[in-house]
Amino acid sequence: MRTQVAIIGGGPAGLLLSQLLHLSGVDSIVLERQTRDYVEARIRAGMLEQVTVDLLDQAGAGARMRREGLPHGGVNLASEGESFRIDVEGLTGKQMMVYGQTELTKDLNDLVATRDQPLFEVADVALHDLEGAVPYVTYRKDGAAHRIDCDFIAGCDGYHGVSRQSVPVAGGQAFERVYPFGWLGILADVPPCDHELIYANHERGFALASMRSNVRSRYYVQVSLDEKLEDWPDERIWDELAIRLGDKAAAGMTRGPSIEKSIAPLRSFVFEPMRRGRLFLAGDAAHIVPPTGAKGLNLAASDVHYLHEAITAWYGNGAQAGLDDYSAKALARVWKAERFSWWFTSLMHRFPDTDAFARKMQVAELDYLRGSKAAQTVMAENYVGLPF
Ligand code: APR
Ligand code: PHB
Repeated sequence: MRTQVAIIGGGPAGLLLSQLLHLSGVDSIVLERQTRDYVEARIRAGMLEQVTVDLLDQAGAGARMRREGLPHGGVNLASEGESFRIDVEGLTGKQMMVYGQTELTKDLNDLVATRDQPLFEVADVALHDLEGAVPYVTYRKDGAAHRIDCDFIAGCDGYHGVSRQSVPVAGGQAFERVYPFGWLGILADVPPCDHELIYANHERGFALASMRSNVRSRYYVQVSLDEKLEDWPDERIWDELAIRLGDKAAAGMTRGPSIEKSIAPLRSFVFEPMRRGRLFLAGDAAHIVPPTGAKGLNLAASDVHYLHEAITAWYGNGAQAGLDDYSAKALARVWKAERFSWWFTSLMHRFPDTDAFARKMQVAELDYLRGSKAAQTVMAENYVGLPF
């Protein structure tokens, strides 16, 4: 087979890239290891930056999000059980949108499926001749071997994918921080405790009240990495949330049976550069953020935006500059989101070595945020998303 762009991975990054390229008249083939059901069932975050919302509109994928998503103009921070609101919209003129990544993935799959894509359940994907003019991808499907020749390969296959691993060790550098705790998440069909999100710093650890809709809530509590799900029956999670989120949130909280429960570790990771010859990495394949601030999907979207522009410019007038600048351009935005996610994680969590002094520093910083418009503006413009 032959295509212009071979896209490895049918997560949000690969699907969005395929759709944007299609609208620009560029062919692609998306190869996905899992089944469609599996990809659509993965529970991930659900907070979109305004630039991501705009990009989804540009891709023709925004209709249901506009109907069912919840625009948010602010966010709440709680410290010592007392919360305060940051008026993100008032400070930046922009809003966020609450819309689950699962829903977004379904919408994108519906569009891409009209072109009989992605090719699901492909195995043994391997990348070849990345430094040549005609790279190619091999894979197996239903037992048969296949080969796709292309002009470019987009590595959109997530943190555990094959694309980044195709770059020789000496061909790049990884930067990493692993945090000594995880997030225990619970999804339940109950109304949210507040109409906006609450991020809570508590001496027992971090908690987050989030939502998927007016009738579906998503909550998290920080847990140590050796915790087992069996030790967290729903009631224990609700009790812990009530303590950490504070009295006001606890009073508004409706408890209900969990429909999903999982523990996720927290990690910061960046691989530089995001290019090797004709392979371009995008999304989780190149970088991971801890979920505090929900930047993961938004960074995948901004990479895709830059890559789409670079590839269409090359097909349009042979311009090489966009391709050459892709990695540096994407990384400039990635590192700022990495910094924000690391800072927000550090501010809100209890670390094993959080001694009395470190705790006072967190409380003082939150108190400063509560009272300073300048500090709130810094938080707000990062939270709502930096411009492309
Ligand atoms: N071959 C084909 N597909 C693969 C391979 C492989 N060897 N390895 C992984 N994949 C697929 C995965 O099954 C997955 O569907 O690549 C896809 C990668 O999707 P994501 O992990 O969702 O990554 P991305 O599209 O970059 O989206 C980033 O997802 O992980 C969250 O926080 C992250 O919200 C952010 C978003
Ligand atoms: C979520 O709703 O899952 C969510 C929201 C905000 C975050 C992280 C996760 O910062």
